[in-house]
Amino acid sequence: MPAVLITGAQWGDEGKGRATDLLGSRVDYVVKFNGGNNAGHTVVVGNEKYALHLLPSGILTPGVVPVIANGVVVDLEVLFEELDALSARGVDVSKLKVSANAHVITSYHRTIDKVTERFLGKKSIGTTGRGIGPAYADKINRIGIRIQDIFDESILRQKVEGALELKNQILVKVYNRRAIEVDEIVDDLLRFRERLAPMVCDTALLLNNALAENKTVLFEAGQATMLDIDHGTYPFVTSSNATAGGASTGSGVPPHELKRIIAVIKAYTTRVGSGPFPTELFDEHGEHLAKVGHEFGTTTGRPRRCGWYDAPMARYAARVNGVTDFVLTKLDVLSGLEKIPVCVAYDVDGVRHDEMPVNQSDFHHAKPIYEEFDGWTEDITGARTFEELPVNAQKYIRALESMSGARMSAIGVGPEREQVVVLHDLLG
Ligand code: GDP
Ligand code: IMO
Ligand code: MG
Repeated sequence: MPAVLITGAQWGDEGKGRATDLLGSRVDYVVKFNGGNNAGHTVVVGNEKYALHLLPSGILTPGVVPVIANGVVVDLEVLFEELDALSARGVDVSKLKVSANAHVITSYHRTIDKVTERFLGKKSIGTTGRGIGPAYADKINRIGIRIQDIFDESILRQKVEGALELKNQILVKVYNRRAIEVDEIVDDLLRFRERLAPMVCDTALLLNNALAENKTVLFEAGQATMLDIDHGTYPFVTSSNATAGGASTGSGVPPHELKRIIAVIKAYTTRVGSGPFPTELFDEHGEHLAKVGHEFGTTTGRPRRCGWYDAPMARYAARVNGVTDFVLTKLDVLSGLEKIPVCVAYDVDGVRHDEMPVNQSDFHHAKPIYEEFDGWTEDITGARTFEELPVNAQKYIRALESMSGARMSAIGVGPEREQVVVLHDLLG
């Protein structure tokens, strides 16, 4: 099983970090190919809880080579903080490799992210404020700073000057902020040079060589399908491709290498930040999901919006990613609910839509059409086989499977490493 992808099917926080950890010791490389420290992955190992932002979750597994590939935007301060914090807890971080082509997030990206959001007011996206969008905007505008630039001070200075020329005009004249000094940025980036040097390489070469040697490479997406810049609920999305195609452009590994495409999906739906969310709940059921599911963002601590499972969205994710397997997480959070509604289609101004509407404005006021399933009262956190699950939970899983466009290969019944029911081997 050479290359495998894990992404999210919804609006993030499906439990991708946890799913990566599940495959842990059976993979040789874990690659982050998109996003930056806007991600927040919580992994629970015994009594230890880890919150990872920039680093791929695979870093927690001894022996695995973690890779930050070209598609990522790297905040170097955060990178070294995260590495130091993990080292202090006894995690071996010495194998990390970073692409020379990855872009860096500087303080002006963070500043612009925050002032733009403030300027948008009620129309704001609710970004994580980590400078993600502005860093990707510079990449696309061809005025970004890459990791390799840090090793050529004169090039670095020229590029920072180029980037700040227009930005300072905007910061001062539009946003009423102080201009940013070129030296400030250059000095800030140069201080990481020595520590960074041994990690930097051609990660595309590294990964293609690994695949040629039959090593197993796991691609771990940050964010998720509905936050994807092309396939998500634009403009309420992040600025990178979290879908399967992003793994190829974001790493330099050709698409045909991806043999298994795993989408992690919650047994209900959550979203942080603004944007449409047809199944969102504002009643006691929403409170149940938020409270029992501890739905607070790993990165910003913001409460997550909660709603029922959306089957057309799952099918959409199955299509645009080519999902071979779903990992259904947080089924345990539904225990105790008498009835569990599932959105099977949408009503848009009296017209039934079985698939996601073409127009975003239709999606904004789409009303979910629900089918209700009987709940269960049993605690399922101890179940380790499908048969150990209550019959109604089994029926719920099978119903979701038939509506979602791919098989359910693993079911999360609790946050801990072993709290999972595996139906199909994800690597076999
Ligand atoms: P990611 O961003 O996709 O990696 O997901 P997050 O880590 O942001 O959010 C998922 C949260 O759900 C984490 O706190 C996990 O520990 C937790 N989690 C994952 N799977 C399960 C599960 O099956 N049951 C429960 N109760 N919690 C889970
Ligand atoms: P993981 O990897 C959930 C959301 C933000 C905001 C939008 C744009 O943990 O699933 P950005 O800072 O990326 O420009 O913000 O995307 N967002 C996430 N929501 N999980 C994430 O990552 C997210 N990363 C970004 O809340 O709505
Ligand atoms: Mg998360």
